[in-house]
Amino acid sequence: MRPLLDAAARSEDEHIDRNGPLPWPSAPGVLIGAVQEAGLTGRGGANFPTWRKLARAAVTDRPVVIANAAEGEPASSKDKVLLSHCPHLVLDGLQLAAEAVGASRVYLYGPKGTVVPKRKSDRYPIVHVQAPDTFTAGESSAVMAAVAGRPARPTDRSREDMLVQNVETLARIAQIARYGPRWFRQHDSFLATVSGAVKRPGVYEVPKNPEVRQLLDLADAIEPTKAVLVGGYHGTWLRPHDIVDDPGAGVAIALHTNESGLTKTTEIVRYLASQSTRQCGPCRFGLPALAEAMTRRQWPQVRRLVELVDGRGACHHPDGTARLVRSALAAFGEERR
Ligand SMILES: Cc1cc2nc3c(=O)[nH]c(=O)nc-3n(C[C@H](O)[C@H](O)[C@H](O)COP(=O)(O)O)c2cc1C
Ligand code: SF4
Repeated sequence: MRPLLDAAARSEDEHIDRNGPLPWPSAPGVLIGAVQEAGLTGRGGANFPTWRKLARAAVTDRPVVIANAAEGEPASSKDKVLLSHCPHLVLDGLQLAAEAVGASRVYLYGPKGTVVPKRKSDRYPIVHVQAPDTFTAGESSAVMAAVAGRPARPTDRSREDMLVQNVETLARIAQIARYGPRWFRQHDSFLATVSGAVKRPGVYEVPKNPEVRQLLDLADAIEPTKAVLVGGYHGTWLRPHDIVDDPGAGVAIALHTNESGLTKTTEIVRYLASQSTRQCGPCRFGLPALAEAMTRRQWPQVRRLVELVDGRGACHHPDGTARLVRSALAAFGEERR
């Protein structure tokens, strides 16, 4: 069952043949109610109920709606795959969301090279804004800043007049509008990117909440698997005995037993430290010091720095880095001896 990727169509005509015309809602509020009934949550990582965001935007005066295709997470490529396979579903969802909230303008924010087809049927013209190739460029306040013409850096101010939705969330909205909430609850699925020690890395569409084991089997893990990083660079390391019934995440990176989990984590932390926007103390000073302490294998110092940076930035970049390091220390205890 691949309700999203099997709806793939490159041209607008092929898309309409396969999926039917865009069903504009009959009255304001109909779409938001359907999205609520469907139980759709955001696919950009935070899992926030989508209808709540739509409802809040709908009571704002002529908000701006932004499709977020930045996909700054290096271990994820599901948004890229989605846009190349099903661009029209994303555009349908964007148009429907814009209509539902009474948008004034509509943007698509994506990395260089993002190509989205021009269409006959759209009510709202779509303005493209280029996302820089950085880890934090897709964080919602960075997206809002970029669309407002400022550098794409997270800020501590979230704008009430802008609605940011991940492109996969928008494609799901288009399916809810076409087939209804009941269909969606039965066909809700999940796009997951699997990489690392696997023979078939790539993007897989799987039923919602798949087990991590299922993702490893699909991608043909190179056994024996030592651990899996679930949730991407801000995620959590799980050892095989922990992954039995752990709900899956959009990103899974497999590690083979002949690799070092602490070395892999140190590489990721060095990358994350380089990706801070250098606006807040925990990122400017804490993350480089953390990367350095990990490189030198100074574990008491690593523990101290993790506590120092956690929860102290304008965005969740330090928190996500702290979560990753804490989980590495717990998962790879034997490597520290
Ligand atoms: C550091 C950081 C980076 C993020 N990068 C992305 C991204 O590249 N794409 C994305 O859709 N959401 C990203 N997010 C999540 C967004 O802030 C936001 O929650 C999401 O775009 C909202 O869309 P959704 O409700 O449809 O998931 C990031 C969050 C953080 C903290
Ligand atoms: S916490 Fe870090 S990434 Fe986030 S805004 Fe501050 S400096 Fe930038």
